[in-house]
Amino acid sequence: MFSNVRIEKLILNNYRNHKFLELDLKKNIILICGRNGSGKTNILESLSLFTSSSGLKKTNLIEIVNSNLKGPVELFGVNILCKINNKKMKIGLGLKKNASGLKKIINLEGLKAKKKIDEYFSIFWITPKMTFLFQNSREERRNFIDQMICSIDFSFKKFLSLYEKYKTERIRILKKWNEASEEWLGLIEKKLAGTGIIICDARRKFIKQLNLHLSSPEGPFDSLEIELSGELDSLLLKKPAIEVEDFFLKKLKENRKKDIFTGKTNFSANKTDLIVLNKTYNREAKNHSTGEQKVIIFLIIFSFMKILKNQKDLKILFLLDDVFSFLDKNFVLTVLDQLNKLKIQTWLTDVSGDWIMKKESFKSIIDKINIDE
Ligand SMILES: Nc1ncnc2c1ncn2[C@@H]1O[C@H](COP(=O)(O)OP(=O)(O)OP(=O)(O)O)[C@@H](O)[C@H]1O
Ligand SMILES: [Mg+2]
Repeated sequence: MFSNVRIEKLILNNYRNHKFLELDLKKNIILICGRNGSGKTNILESLSLFTSSSGLKKTNLIEIVNSNLKGPVELFGVNILCKINNKKMKIGLGLKKNASGLKKIINLEGLKAKKKIDEYFSIFWITPKMTFLFQNSREERRNFIDQMICSIDFSFKKFLSLYEKYKTERIRILKKWNEASEEWLGLIEKKLAGTGIIICDARRKFIKQLNLHLSSPEGPFDSLEIELSGELDSLLLKKPAIEVEDFFLKKLKENRKKDIFTGKTNFSANKTDLIVLNKTYNREAKNHSTGEQKVIIFLIIFSFMKILKNQKDLKILFLLDDVFSFLDKNFVLTVLDQLNKLKIQTWLTDVSGDWIMKKESFKSIIDKINIDE
């Protein structure tokens, strides 16, 4: 299956260091080149903000406005012309001032207003931060997996945000807990547990697919296995979802006092970590060398692409920021080759890009854009 989304034009106005930038894109792979600080990552970030609230730099909205902008914030904008299922459409991202600062506004031209942009396509990115995936926080590892699931299951994202909403709401009710709110509290806990189980179960199914590919990799690689460490995740491997949901509900009730005291949901679907095991050595990824960890990350990404290949309705873009600096060059070429075969529009950044442009087979599929010129 081929990906059915591509960006044909990108226009930035007052986006970080770009006062004005217009790019016309023709090919599958877009290689953005330019010296350090020229604004390559900023271009990728501007796209990532269409489907993510803080984007690939984990930014606050105030930071993305050109710091020299003198006029109103309406002079800021990210506009794309894209093709989704062969239908052309314009999508704009702007900012608006409100009481708490700035608010993001996404305008979709020619689309049903009710649908959100992330129901049309998804964006998956890899950034140099991933070099330290196994040293980073468990939240980052979980996000890595969640981002992959969101790319193929558009409803997963909706459940993730619902889950956060219910969590906040429950803590708010708990803080003012009295007999009158008992029924309301029970209701919100039911919703929280139900949504939490949907999330854990989607993760379980996805990890199962990943493991299928990771257990028998092509080439001279070790066999890997991914596991989720959360209590709910392990229970779901043994028991029917309905029973696990009841257990979750019981835990929420038990923890009410503790949760009021800490202001947190102490037993949660998101208390899980991603454990990656090299089965040949029976060793966890975090105990492997830096170079070996890079291979492991590559193998996970590669398995993810095999899953993408079997998707019926694929609508995804890839952003690969500075990957040549932290992944083996030949691995990147393998990934790019696969992405090109799946017709997935891929945005790459590199200071010079010379190395990849020397590869005969890549010359014809890459649009090289030098933003220094
Ligand atoms: N709000 C802003 N207004 C103006 N410039 C900004 C703003 N925010 C960041 N910048 C600047 O944008 C420039 C480009 O940043 P970016 O991360 O895109 O560089 P890059 O081309 O990816 O560099 P590298 O090759 O080092 O990764 C930086 O010099 C940064 O200081
Ligand atoms: Mg950069």
